[in-house]
Amino acid sequence: MARVYNFSAGPSMLPEKVLRQAQAELLEYGDSGQSVMEMSHRSKWFDAIIKDTEATLRRVMDIPDNYKVGFFQGGATQQFAMVPLNFMTTGKADYLVTGNFSNLAAKEAAKFGEVNIVASSKDKNFTYIPDVNAINYDKDASYIHICQNNTIFGTQFVEVPQVEGVPLVADMSSMILSKPVDVTKYGCIYFGVQKNVAPAGMAIAIVRDDLLGHAADNVPTMMNYTTLLGKDSMYNTPPCWCIYMTGLVLKYLEND
Ligand SMILES: Cc1ncc(COP(=O)(O)O)c(C=O)c1O
Repeated sequence: MARVYNFSAGPSMLPEKVLRQAQAELLEYGDSGQSVMEMSHRSKWFDAIIKDTEATLRRVMDIPDNYKVGFFQGGATQQFAMVPLNFMTTGKADYLVTGNFSNLAAKEAAKFGEVNIVASSKDKNFTYIPDVNAINYDKDASYIHICQNNTIFGTQFVEVPQVEGVPLVADMSSMILSKPVDVTKYGCIYFGVQKNVAPAGMAIAIVRDDLLGHAADNVPTMMNYTTLLGKDSMYNTPPCWCIYMTGLVLKYLEND
């Protein structure tokens, strides 16, 4: 058997131990008589899987109780729209454009309100991170958005913007769980799971309580954090297999 080192775009490698456990449990999970892929999301087995996955993430990342954790289909790209649809309460937001994905996030948000690019490193092909303390932030911005690690260009924020009363929203897709993060500095952290955690199929968002409940009535149900989090990520059929794999990787990170 050959296992290549995969540095390509898209999903990344998973720990062999995790893949072997998934293989061992593929045909029958526990005493359920079925695969997680076939299992009802309302079953007692899946209920335990999703609760355990969230609890492990909370332990590993030390997530405070006033943050909700949700599993969302649509990847990180869908979060680019969900963030403004749910959090752009003043009609405007500040974006730092430091790479490809923060640029895409800013363009998506501009469909829903005023996006102010308060800093950009485009002038030098995204080879640096602007000094976050030298930026003229808008005190009336609904939030400040960053992409913490620029997957394609390789730059990463060491210090993050902190403006009193303006929540920080961060796309952490390609650095999540690679080092400790102080969750309390953020209003919302989101990431597509396929880079650092699990197979492709969903994003995880960690949202501070006070940011919930402000989306307009016409925001589609599946784009509304409050609705989905209020149903413990099971408003509809969730990506059960992806949540299960996330749980396995988190346990591996915690114990190995
Ligand atoms: C930082 C970052 N944000 C967003 C995305 C887009 O993620 P997805 O394909 O899950 O929509 C990627 C994909 O590589 C990424 O690296």
